[in-house]
Amino acid sequence: MEIKIEVEDISQHPARAIVLNLFEGVKKPGGATGAVDKALGGAISQLIAEGETKGKLNELTLVHTLGCLPSPRVLVVGLGKQQEFKLDRVRDATATALRHLRRIGVRTVATVVHGAGVGGLEPQQCAQAIAEGAVMGLYRFTRHKKKNENEREIDALTLVELDGTKAPALRRGVASGRILAEAANRARDMANEPANYLTPAIMAEQAQAVAQEAGLECEVLEREQMQELGMGALLGVAQGSSQPPKLIVMRYRGDPRRKATLGLLGKGITFDSGGISIKPSAGMQEMKGDMSGGAAVIAAMWAIGRLKPRINVTAVVPATENMPSGSATKPGDVLRAMDGKTIEVVNTDAEGRLILADAIAYARQQGLSPIVDVATLTGAMVVAIGRAATGCMTNSQELCQRVIAAGEAAGEKFWQFPLYEEYKEHLKSDVADIKNVGKRGEAGSISAALFLAEFVGDTPWVHLDMAPTDHVDKDKGAWVKGATGIPTRTLVNLVLALAGEKAPARARRRDK
Ligand code: BES
Ligand code: MN
Ligand code: ZN
Repeated sequence: MEIKIEVEDISQHPARAIVLNLFEGVKKPGGATGAVDKALGGAISQLIAEGETKGKLNELTLVHTLGCLPSPRVLVVGLGKQQEFKLDRVRDATATALRHLRRIGVRTVATVVHGAGVGGLEPQQCAQAIAEGAVMGLYRFTRHKKKNENEREIDALTLVELDGTKAPALRRGVASGRILAEAANRARDMANEPANYLTPAIMAEQAQAVAQEAGLECEVLEREQMQELGMGALLGVAQGSSQPPKLIVMRYRGDPRRKATLGLLGKGITFDSGGISIKPSAGMQEMKGDMSGGAAVIAAMWAIGRLKPRINVTAVVPATENMPSGSATKPGDVLRAMDGKTIEVVNTDAEGRLILADAIAYARQQGLSPIVDVATLTGAMVVAIGRAATGCMTNSQELCQRVIAAGEAAGEKFWQFPLYEEYKEHLKSDVADIKNVGKRGEAGSISAALFLAEFVGDTPWVHLDMAPTDHVDKDKGAWVKGATGIPTRTLVNLVLALAGEKAPARARRRDK
């Protein structure tokens, strides 16, 4: 899909559909919606008067123009209450409107820049959110389906703005929005891919392709190198599978004069059966997405390579299956991690923290600091917070705050949980330095993070438990049923903010 900017009066645009907006409760629309309403002889205000169009969030009203305008149809999308308006709504309204227009076979669309007029938001941020909403909202994962001849596409989206002085900002916003959304879609592609099409080896190949495309270094460590490094925890998880594990390392050097390098770590379990502590079969297919953290990290590196901020970033993604077999790790086995700590494996289904223990030890040996890890780590996080937000935990309040702010700009929510020292006791083992599960039914997400903290030491660190947000079960705004690509855009925003290139794009109102 092509995304263009044009400076003109949208009512004169010849696209097959024009997208306008309406705040809830507005009786007499102003701005572009008002101008089009006038050209249509008051059709929109009549729909409002009839109570059919209310401006409720993501409400859609299609009006046929019957020759009154160059375009054959107008789609009015509701933005909800004006007091509650923020950038997320621009992204979601765009996605909802475009999915509808695609469904009815519209191939060219012109849209007003939602938010940049009456909404009072920065034009650049609005344009970015529109590009994100369009590219993410129209995402489909169809590579394993027979080609559907009736499947329609939107070929072109034009952002139309009357005020020419805004055009450069709109252009910048569309350019960055495209990159961020395409990165998120790459993460979705990886996470949606069935585990037989995305083995650790294939994931590593994809990381290499991403690195090549974005001008990054990529190194893939094999089992023998993991053995030499003493990565007994990662190897212990991998030993039940016939697929060889891979440790994917991607390096971006945007600030070669400095040594400091941010570490982005992602869980890369390409399938989590639970291992010998096998999971119930109902819903197990969802565990093809247990590499979503790794996918987000790899996809974020692609965007970072394209955007070229002045900062060094290294990604570390331990990739393996977690499978039961005659060679699998058994409950009660003791593994030795790269940093020398011994771990009693009480439950082989708590495998994410095992592979991350070695990834963290490796990251520290490489001198990476700070560290952000991303993982579908615990079902307990879903129990604690539901599916609206990703949980975060940290030993560095400042860094955590920056992650939360970066997420706000992306429309990705993070909610901080405490790392209570009291629960460290739950990880005490009789036979090893630590065990891999805490106390049953008590703060499972926190004890998982406390386990990681043992390997992090004093390196500033934020842990993101994205078990709640890795996928959605229905289309909703910019999200499409399936993998979400969370937290790809947050990670990119964070990197840009740490590089000081750009304050995280906040939905700040100009008039306040
Ligand atoms: N990958 C799972 C966590 C998960 C669960 C992610 C549901 C997404 C949705 C993780 O490896 C796991 O199995 N965790 C166990 C830990 C337990 C054995 C201490 C869990 O949450 O049950
Ligand atoms: Mn598991
Ligand atoms: Zn898992």
